[in-house]
Amino acid sequence: MTTTITIRRPDDWHVHLRDGEMLKAVVPYTARHFGRAIIMPNLVPPVTTSASAAAYRDRIMAAVPRGVSFTPLMTAYLTDTTDADDIGAGHRDGVLTAVKLYPAHATTNSSHGVTDIKSVAPVLEAMQRAGMPLLVHGEVTSPDIDIFDREAVFIDRVLTPLLADFPALKVVMEHITTQEAAEFVAANAPRLGATITPQHLMLNRNALFVGGVRPHFYCLPVLKRERHQIALRKAATSGQSCYFLGTDTAPHLRHLKEAACGCAGVFSAPVALGCYAQVFAEENALDRFEAFASLNGPAFYGLPANEDRITLVSGHSNGSAMVPVSKDGELVTFEPIEPITWAVRNATSA
Ligand code: DOR
Ligand code: ZN
Repeated sequence: MTTTITIRRPDDWHVHLRDGEMLKAVVPYTARHFGRAIIMPNLVPPVTTSASAAAYRDRIMAAVPRGVSFTPLMTAYLTDTTDADDIGAGHRDGVLTAVKLYPAHATTNSSHGVTDIKSVAPVLEAMQRAGMPLLVHGEVTSPDIDIFDREAVFIDRVLTPLLADFPALKVVMEHITTQEAAEFVAANAPRLGATITPQHLMLNRNALFVGGVRPHFYCLPVLKRERHQIALRKAATSGQSCYFLGTDTAPHLRHLKEAACGCAGVFSAPVALGCYAQVFAEENALDRFEAFASLNGPAFYGLPANEDRITLVSGHSNGSAMVPVSKDGELVTFEPIEPITWAVRNATSA
């Protein structure tokens, strides 16, 4: 049985780093394992322009530990009033890699999101021309749609017409959570890709209620039933190039999650790579781990794979870890129900 695996250094195609003290606390965890990361723009206020993305990139770089090589790939938050010229210029200048679509009120800090997809048609046309990917939070927000159905309804009502209206637009369905989404992505590849999180591979919705309410397993899109978890594990480990690693690590201070109305988001950055390796080992698919973690994402984004290598080992037990942020609080690191037994041993430079 393999207990060690060395792969090209992975990238994380979906990360929330926040700002200020939180940014400084979490950046080292992503930067030490991942060569690049797609940075989500849902700050308060959101990163909506090329200029604000460039300034945010500088703040991120200032928080990267000395001697660590890490490239944040910036995104702009799409609003009803986004300027297509600014997005195009940001892409040409190398500031913006992609644009993020949050349907208004779908999740944390998404109140400025898009209320009507028609209002952003000029931006999507410019992106299509430039080959710039649109990253979608794939859930409808109507309160009359059951929370467990919001992804499936998004595919029917929003994503299917979007793909038809912009036939050359590259789209990533972020953090897919259902069998239907996995199948839809494969059927529309290669212009459609998907990220898959560690928690959606390791858990299903029962985990939210094991012995009581488990706020640290609450994220959006919410965990789904077991058949979806099984389908996601099959998709991620299939080797198909449309699926790639995106942790959706989303830090919230502990007291804001352990609350009467707790925030959505799982902070997984310190352990995410070990979690993924464990899933691939359990599925007897370690030979396909490098494709998911280090090759499929760059290929989708038209970037070269990293040249460095990283080694993971099994047989480790990762105890629960708190990450201090400031005098205001700390973060609880993702700890799935089964212990995490894989961990990064070392990363080597090219
Ligand atoms: O659980 C989530 N947390 N889902 C998202 O889409 C946003 C994220 C966050 O920013 O906390
Ligand atoms: Zn996210």
